[in-house]
Amino acid sequence: MRKVSVIGAGNVGATCANVIARKNIVNDVVLLDIKSGVAEGKALDMWQTSSVDFFHTRVRGVTNDYEATKDSAVVVITSGLPRKPGMSRDDLISTNAKIVKDVTENVVKYSPDAIIIIVSNPLDVMAYTAFMTAKKPKNEVIGMAGILDSSRYKAFLADELNISPNCIHGLLLGGHGDTMVPLPRYTSVAGIPVQQLIPKEKLDIIIERTRKGGGELVELMGTSAWYAPGAAAAQMVEAVLQDQQCFYPVAAYLDGEYGLNDLYLGVPIILGRNGIERIVEIDLNKEERDMLDKSAASVKETLKTLKNLNILD
Ligand code: LAC
Repeated sequence: MRKVSVIGAGNVGATCANVIARKNIVNDVVLLDIKSGVAEGKALDMWQTSSVDFFHTRVRGVTNDYEATKDSAVVVITSGLPRKPGMSRDDLISTNAKIVKDVTENVVKYSPDAIIIIVSNPLDVMAYTAFMTAKKPKNEVIGMAGILDSSRYKAFLADELNISPNCIHGLLLGGHGDTMVPLPRYTSVAGIPVQQLIPKEKLDIIIERTRKGGGELVELMGTSAWYAPGAAAAQMVEAVLQDQQCFYPVAAYLDGEYGLNDLYLGVPIILGRNGIERIVEIDLNKEERDMLDKSAASVKETLKTLKNLNILD
């Protein structure tokens, strides 16, 4: 019996649970929320789609009952407030850090061996909060952002080229914020470097739109996106459960890699049953290196705010 738990039954958590259930990769999905009835209702609604969409994953919702998450193989943490128009992800830090700490303590109590995937914002700093709280090996606490950001990047490139996003490989580094670092040099369409297919001015516009991709959706909808964030987290769950040993961009704890220390930042990794199997260090030119350093500095700045809250041990 394999179980995955998703903490937080808001838009992102519910979407993530729904996508996982439809993949038929696990026996049970437990959806947990603090608001009475919300997770139960959404889970029941999902379960009632099983005969329509031909999946057999049991989906169950609970109100703050962490015992129901016991022995999960993977736990996805989506808890916390989403952004409102005009807010940056960093504006959420004091509220969400306390929530993520509390949730992580409960998760680890019942599933000490679980791989933990963090989705709460500000992403890189919430992943750090969970890592410090969980006191688990760094490969077992992973932040979800790069898959989401690169899926936005690929969607924009696909529109520009009028092709399927599935032919595109693209890589991003850095924090999940406006300083993220899309890498055209490492972007290709069926192996063809993207710079041969899209002129620089157009590529620059796509890169800028990718950096602000979350904000564009907050402005349109009045709250954060959920379809792509939920699906991206579900893809990470799948990669771990299937021991894929495949390349993904995620937020990882850096301990000297890329010359950076003691922070979570988006980097390419190999994802498998142990979570982050290894971090891959790619060659960066000066411009790319400068952008990565700028992004790391911005995450470090937010980390300072976290440390000043004095909630970590
Ligand atoms: C986004 C939020 C989930 O980028 O960070 O849509």
